[in-house]
Amino acid sequence: MARVALVTGGSRGIGEAISKGLKAAGYVVAANYAGNDEKAAAFTGATGIKTYKWDVSDYDACVAGIAQVEADLGPVEVLVNNAGITRDGMFHRMTKDQWDAVINTNLNSLFNMTRPVWEGMRARKFGRVICISSINGQKGQMGQVNYSAAKAGDIGFVRALAQEGARAGITVNAICPGYIGTEMVRAIDPAVLEKSILPHIPVGRLGEPEEIARAVVFLASDDSGFITGSTISANGGQYFT
Ligand SMILES: NC(=O)c1ccc[n+]([C@@H]2O[C@H](COP(=O)([O-])OP(=O)(O)OC[C@H]3O[C@@H](n4cnc5c(N)ncnc54)[C@H](OP(=O)(O)O)[C@@H]3O)[C@@H](O)[C@H]2O)c1
Repeated sequence: MARVALVTGGSRGIGEAISKGLKAAGYVVAANYAGNDEKAAAFTGATGIKTYKWDVSDYDACVAGIAQVEADLGPVEVLVNNAGITRDGMFHRMTKDQWDAVINTNLNSLFNMTRPVWEGMRARKFGRVICISSINGQKGQMGQVNYSAAKAGDIGFVRALAQEGARAGITVNAICPGYIGTEMVRAIDPAVLEKSILPHIPVGRLGEPEEIARAVVFLASDDSGFITGSTISANGGQYFT
């Protein structure tokens, strides 16, 4: 039977490429999203992948959303924690709302989404949890103290949980994309992109969402069973850890 994969933020950007990549690899995919109904409907129309709307920063909504996915499709065996937002600003101007929104969506969501599927994965002795962190969680980025803190937290989450899941056949890994050509990055001032970002990427271009999706498909597979607690950098050579 085909495994069920749930991708948060799976209808747009990197998540869209991940959902499509997993479907092409034979998974039954559920794509969660936050509020862009138009995009989600177009995505389902084009791919046949079911979409589910809930806010990953809300624990109760995650529990209910996952229960619905499992009722419709079966137990979640692959979870991709991809949903994320930015609320950038220099720290001396950063508001509590900007801080909370980013920590809740990019870090607390990992608890909210993973905790409800964890016991099932343990009982079935198989699971794959893949968290999309960021280069800026590895190196820190000015103007993104909230985002860097959340994304660094994602890496700590993965390293600790991997140890707990290891004997139960569950792997937990992070992927740290560099700058990928999605709406999140296109929202950056083109002058800043041209002058301050592209010159620091040795391969000389933004990454493609599909380049992240292919790494996710590999980490989801049975072939990757010995890889856990790891952080895969996919950043065009911009930063090495
Ligand atoms: N793009 C990059 O260069 C880059 C680099 C490093 C890391 N990342 C990380 O990669 C992930 C995907 O980024 P992206 O560029 O593809 O973003 P994106 O194009 O802005 O898409 C974000 C997706 O997440 C969903 N989402 C946002 N907040 C949510 C919430 N509270 N609950 C449920 N879903 C939510 C959105 O749903 P709606 O469509 O409903 O809004 C959308 O599907 C993020 O974690 C991001 O931090 C991106």
